[in-house]
Amino acid sequence: MKVLIEPAGRIKGRLTAPGDKSISHRAAILAAMADEPVLITNYLEAGDPISTLSAIEQLGALVERRSEGLMIRGVGLRNAQTPTQPIDVGNAGTLIRLLPGWLAGQQGSSFQLDGDESIRRRPIDRIAVPLTLMGAQIEATDKRFAPFTVEGARLHGIDYELPVASAQVKSCIALAALIAEGPTTITEIDASRDHTERLLLSAGVKISRLGGELTIYPADELTLPDRIEIPSDPSSAAFAIAAAVLVPGSRLLVEDCSVNWTRSGFIKIAKRMGAVIITDLEERPKDGAITQAEPLSDIDVTAGPLKPTTVSAREVPLAVDELPLIALMACFAEGQTRIEGAAELRLKESDRIAAVVTALSDLGAEAETSEDGLIINGRGSLRGGRVDAGRDHRIAMLGVIAGLASQEGVEVVGVEAAAVSYPDFLADIAALQ
Ligand code: S3P
Repeated sequence: MKVLIEPAGRIKGRLTAPGDKSISHRAAILAAMADEPVLITNYLEAGDPISTLSAIEQLGALVERRSEGLMIRGVGLRNAQTPTQPIDVGNAGTLIRLLPGWLAGQQGSSFQLDGDESIRRRPIDRIAVPLTLMGAQIEATDKRFAPFTVEGARLHGIDYELPVASAQVKSCIALAALIAEGPTTITEIDASRDHTERLLLSAGVKISRLGGELTIYPADELTLPDRIEIPSDPSSAAFAIAAAVLVPGSRLLVEDCSVNWTRSGFIKIAKRMGAVIITDLEERPKDGAITQAEPLSDIDVTAGPLKPTTVSAREVPLAVDELPLIALMACFAEGQTRIEGAAELRLKESDRIAAVVTALSDLGAEAETSEDGLIINGRGSLRGGRVDAGRDHRIAMLGVIAGLASQEGVEVVGVEAAAVSYPDFLADIAALQ
């Protein structure tokens, strides 16, 4: 499906962004691992988290849709059922990287996982290596891709230094640690999103962090709260925020959004570029200690001029899904913006470094790839043209926001990809004009 996005007069109004994708995946998987029922409210009913619901149903969990939310009845930590069919994760990278952590410890059972064409191109050796060190048996295509098989085994705790700052890998190991013998310590070079840690703390798991060292102890069972409320997704909100920053005369209020410090890199970078954003971001705890609740705040955005910036490697994991928007905003700032240490972007739903450079160049911007990131030479405006989403939800939404802020409009091809994380995206954006 294609849409023609005309330049917007202004962005004005209030937005409640949809439920957080990362937390939805985690809440559903952990509810499946629990013994007692859990009611999840504001679950993100979008392509990716729906794949997670199907997966946990195949593993024996019961998922009941109620008016107030999803009631999930789990099977317990060690009782996942063996599915009769391979688990199809669709497009969901978080699902295919987290779930094996749980499955690896299901002794005597075997699980096959597969996904769409994009999933088959994304490496899973980053989880297969630590899980194998814990005692799991994983047979992957060419040793690093889906489809792959996980043979449940007796696991033992490990000390593992993450080679990349990846919340998916960290979370996978943390799930396996719950059913391993002895504690597991994960060392993070740079911080990444911490939703798994917060949820495990809320489930009574013994888990602690000191600086970059996260230690997880085995558990007999998970005792999650009866009710988990999924906060609004800051990565989804970021699209409307970028539109409001870029379209002159705009004023947007994003209500009750997650401002978890591990997710607020985009707002910090945007503010450094000069964006007028008023919000109450959670502060990074000094000792690295884990806090339990997900913090919320309104985010008040006013359009204004931007200046270029340099995004460093340490900032990348805290803004990883929003970097395409930083690149777009950089087109409107006069001068050079550099995004460094972002090679991980090549391993997303598409090669997002190449996809962003192609999309922005096609719209008339001066954008190029660097060794491990992007360089944008901003000129203060963007002409417009055509963007092909290439089945990547975030590139589809990037094209729409570029269109609103452009001089001549943007035709977005494959805009339906947005449904993977934000099914009401076009309607929400239309309501703000
Ligand atoms: C996610 C972590 C990030 C992010 C992805 C969601 C998660 O991936 O890009 O959209 O929910 O843990 P990495 O952990 O591979 O950086």
